[in-house]
Amino acid sequence: MLTQRIIKKRNTNKHIVFALIVALFMGMTLSGCVGGQLGKQNSNEYRNGMVVSASSLASKVGLGILKKGGNAVDAAVAVHFALAVVYPNAGNLGGGGFMVYRAASGETNSLDYREKAAALSTRDMYLDSAGNAITDKSLYGQLASGVPGSVAGMAEAHQKYGKLKWADLIEPAIELARNGFKITARQAREFNELKETFTKFNPDGTAFLKTSDWVEGDVFLQPELANTLEQIRDKGRAGFYEGAVADSLVAEMQRGKGIISKEDLKNYKAVWRKPIIGNYKEYKIITMPPPSSGGIALLQLLKSVEDFPLKRWGLNADSAVQLVVEAERRVYADRAAYLGDPDFYKVPEQQLLDNVYIKSRMRNFSWNKATPSSEVKEGKLNGAEHEETTHFSIVDRDGNSVSITTTLNGSYGSGVVVKGAGFLLNNEMDDFSVKPGTPNMYGLVGGEANAIAPGKRMLSSMTPTIIEKNGKLFMVVGTPGGSTIITSVFQTILNVIEFDKSMQQAVSAKKFHHQWLPDEVYTEENALDSLTVLKLKAKGYNIMFRGPIGRVDAILKTKWGYYQGGADPRGDDSIAAW
Ligand code: DON
Repeated sequence: MLTQRIIKKRNTNKHIVFALIVALFMGMTLSGCVGGQLGKQNSNEYRNGMVVSASSLASKVGLGILKKGGNAVDAAVAVHFALAVVYPNAGNLGGGGFMVYRAASGETNSLDYREKAAALSTRDMYLDSAGNAITDKSLYGQLASGVPGSVAGMAEAHQKYGKLKWADLIEPAIELARNGFKITARQAREFNELKETFTKFNPDGTAFLKTSDWVEGDVFLQPELANTLEQIRDKGRAGFYEGAVADSLVAEMQRGKGIISKEDLKNYKAVWRKPIIGNYKEYKIITMPPPSSGGIALLQLLKSVEDFPLKRWGLNADSAVQLVVEAERRVYADRAAYLGDPDFYKVPEQQLLDNVYIKSRMRNFSWNKATPSSEVKEGKLNGAEHEETTHFSIVDRDGNSVSITTTLNGSYGSGVVVKGAGFLLNNEMDDFSVKPGTPNMYGLVGGEANAIAPGKRMLSSMTPTIIEKNGKLFMVVGTPGGSTIITSVFQTILNVIEFDKSMQQAVSAKKFHHQWLPDEVYTEENALDSLTVLKLKAKGYNIMFRGPIGRVDAILKTKWGYYQGGADPRGDDSIAAW
């Protein structure tokens, strides 16, 4: 079969085929002998479809749907619901997310199913009487939640692009919730760590609580969640936003001084938005528009470094790190000032993406010393962790692709499991700027553009992205990581395009991050060699070592048309493909 493929690609070059056959007979492995260069399929490359997600169980569910003839959107819906069961720290019914879609035909679209502030929310709802921010209130308990968007989002995506029956896409999640699944060592540790939080916010108990400690391999059963999923299976979005599940959610709000009402739920709508599209060299970047800051920031970052010889400098060389950090500093200053929900605030999209503007922002940095963030403000425009989210990337046999990032915000969201309905609620309200200049849980600051208002969506960093090269699918990429999402996606793209890494190498590569404020370069251990650290320190960069940055799940389409996956080794992430 392998030889057949090669002949198809190169049927004119009989000599090479002959040489390959000889090599086979000589007992050499093809991958060792010719790599991907002659169009052969490496052992980690697939032709018919691929799912890369944070959980092997969810990836398997997606692959099952693809094999049944489902397209990438069908698989995405099934994976989304499966993650709500098997990856409850971020997979969700009670959160929201963004989808970027590219059909094999080249048609593109993006879906915004971000949570919204409830009608009763107010600009100062997280301030005390002296005007100080009480950040715990936007992080924990019922008041921390925005109106969930995930179920509406998946229903909308399925209605527009799905091929298989809705019920068939929810069924695998129901089975996993009803019959249970074996938890990983990481999950056992997290459940144990969160025992106190779960007890505090769920005094009547939840599936997450048991008397003894959780251990790897324990079977986790979620019968209430299975019932909720059955409602969704049978009634579509109404199974969540109306009826018994909505009643449970509103009752949960009342128990903990939350403010989401039945009207908020009924009125929630996911919105199709025109994706942000721009170029980096010969690549076309298709990414998420506001209320994500990710798409605009990613394009600003790519444009900022486009004219510099990154490839010559090499991955994580001091000049490359310095350039990337200086670009990030400036882009995040713009983010804080100009980005918010476009339905409420006029985001100066065109000006922010103007080439001349972006390049002018990079003119004032010096190779000799770090630009202090205190000297960097947003640009003048012409005219105007306990952290967890999850990303998954899917491609199908026909070449349709889906890039989804979805979240409860913090790990396990607000800690509140809706009584009787078994799902966790988000703490996404913390993504608003609760007070101008007060950092949120990711240290991000903001102002007017991202102030709280009823019905408004909080600014996000989630950056689901799809890239084309010469009009053809090239990459599907995204990651969790709060404020580090944008810079991790940026670096993963550079790792492939500039530093010639495979998809897996690009994902695994150690990362670093700067977000304007605080004025620090966060790096993973061993991201930079000690000489680079010394050189950067000498120029005034504050280097801070921290834990893992990002958890990228991505797919690359090779020039021979095979799908190559990159599943992040920082988590239990996994590739399923055929
Ligand atoms: O929308 C956002 O930007 C954040 N709520 C994402 C949170 C996140 O990525 C946490 N993950 N590690």
